[in-house]
Amino acid sequence: MATLIQNGTIVNADTTERADLLISGATIREIRAGIPPSAADTVVDASGLLVLPGGIDAHTHLDMPFGGTTSADDFETGTVAAAIGGTTTIVDFAIQARGTKMRDALDLWWKKAAGKAVIDYGLHMIVTDLGQSGLEDMDDLVREGVSSFKLFMAYPNALMVDDATIFKALRQTAKNGALICMHAENGSAIDVIVQQALAEGKTAPIHHALTRPTRAEAEAVHRSIALAEMAGVPVYIVHLSSEDALNQVREARDRGLPAFAETCPQYLLLSLEDHLEDGWEGAKYVFTPPLRERRNQPSLWEGLRRDHLQVVSTDHCPFCFEDQKALGKSDFTKIPNGGPGIENRLQLLHHHGVGLGRFSLNRFVELVSAAPARIFGMYPQKGLLAPGSDADLVLWDPLQPHTISAATHHMRVDYSLFEGFRVRGNARDVYSRGELIVSNGNFIGRPGRGQYLRRAARGGAWQ
Ligand code: URP
Ligand code: ZN
Ligand code: ZN
Repeated sequence: MATLIQNGTIVNADTTERADLLISGATIREIRAGIPPSAADTVVDASGLLVLPGGIDAHTHLDMPFGGTTSADDFETGTVAAAIGGTTTIVDFAIQARGTKMRDALDLWWKKAAGKAVIDYGLHMIVTDLGQSGLEDMDDLVREGVSSFKLFMAYPNALMVDDATIFKALRQTAKNGALICMHAENGSAIDVIVQQALAEGKTAPIHHALTRPTRAEAEAVHRSIALAEMAGVPVYIVHLSSEDALNQVREARDRGLPAFAETCPQYLLLSLEDHLEDGWEGAKYVFTPPLRERRNQPSLWEGLRRDHLQVVSTDHCPFCFEDQKALGKSDFTKIPNGGPGIENRLQLLHHHGVGLGRFSLNRFVELVSAAPARIFGMYPQKGLLAPGSDADLVLWDPLQPHTISAATHHMRVDYSLFEGFRVRGNARDVYSRGELIVSNGNFIGRPGRGQYLRRAARGGAWQ
């Protein structure tokens, strides 16, 4: 089965060209001007459209237990929403339950995804406990294509690990080529501030943000990078939210260190001031790190433009406002942490990044697809439009207006962080490994068609 996409503008991270693109089976066979229609079974006219490599969201939490409940999207609803928004690959987080083997968590997350995922997916492993054999277990996981691990410096008594664990895990990646992803916030200091707030009767959602200062983030980013430097390995900071923390990454990169970081649309576009007066509504914005003061946003945008930040992911971790966020009605520490966004990342970044002249289309592709593919061991299978790469691509209408709303979105959650945001630019058609799964904005794929991605470690072969 061959599909010819004619007359589109092919946009990669480093090139833009008017050309035709021929898909053969699951891969891209050819890109050049003037491919004859006779080469294909189906011909699609992409005049006026951009042809982009499918988006890669390197930070999602589908079907994830947290705070006494489970994130509202599973691998089916979450990946359908992702696909409609132009994302064709996710990397989700499996969680090692303390005292158990990482292998058990991998098996469990494979089961969660099986028969459900509609796009390809990789898995990171959240390490909560190295135990006796944790370092060898990490090597075992790398052989299974889990080439990145997340460690938490926050959430004491739940997910947080100590510096010795972090340092040991970092040193192991010098041997096995994996990448350590850090949730960088000083959880011990934050806990002291949180306990004081509760003792003073400060229980409303806003206190989630007010008890997590940017210095606590910056200190942990600094410590992560210092530990990685001592171990002689790269490190990746997840969901970076503030100028203070960004300065630590920038300084490290200026010194030539392999420090990488992502931010998320909520930190670029929403602020503490916007939601300060929201009362209980503020529970919608309880995620970690929290929303920051608006003055942080220009620095984050500049960071994206100048490559101090390499990736935009979503940290999609949805909890319904009515029945899940309500668990913390009388105590902000009981509100499940997380917010939705898997569907809207490309729309928001295209509109507010490219549309408002903050960076180029090529930089957009780099941030939402090529860089996560490279950093997380999927390139050039993913993240690139070129012969031999997977035919994961988006026919993007750069002019299509769209208003983001919970009334029309496809995520299984009863609110949107970006309710009423008007954007220009949206996915029209989406192909995953050569199969049309979104047509004119409607999902037409099949649950379970998504495949597990065995991701390469640094220096490893592309599989
Ligand atoms: O609040 C958040 N970010 N929830 C998901 C877990 C995490 O820390 O990424
Ligand atoms: Zn985190
Ligand atoms: Zn997360």
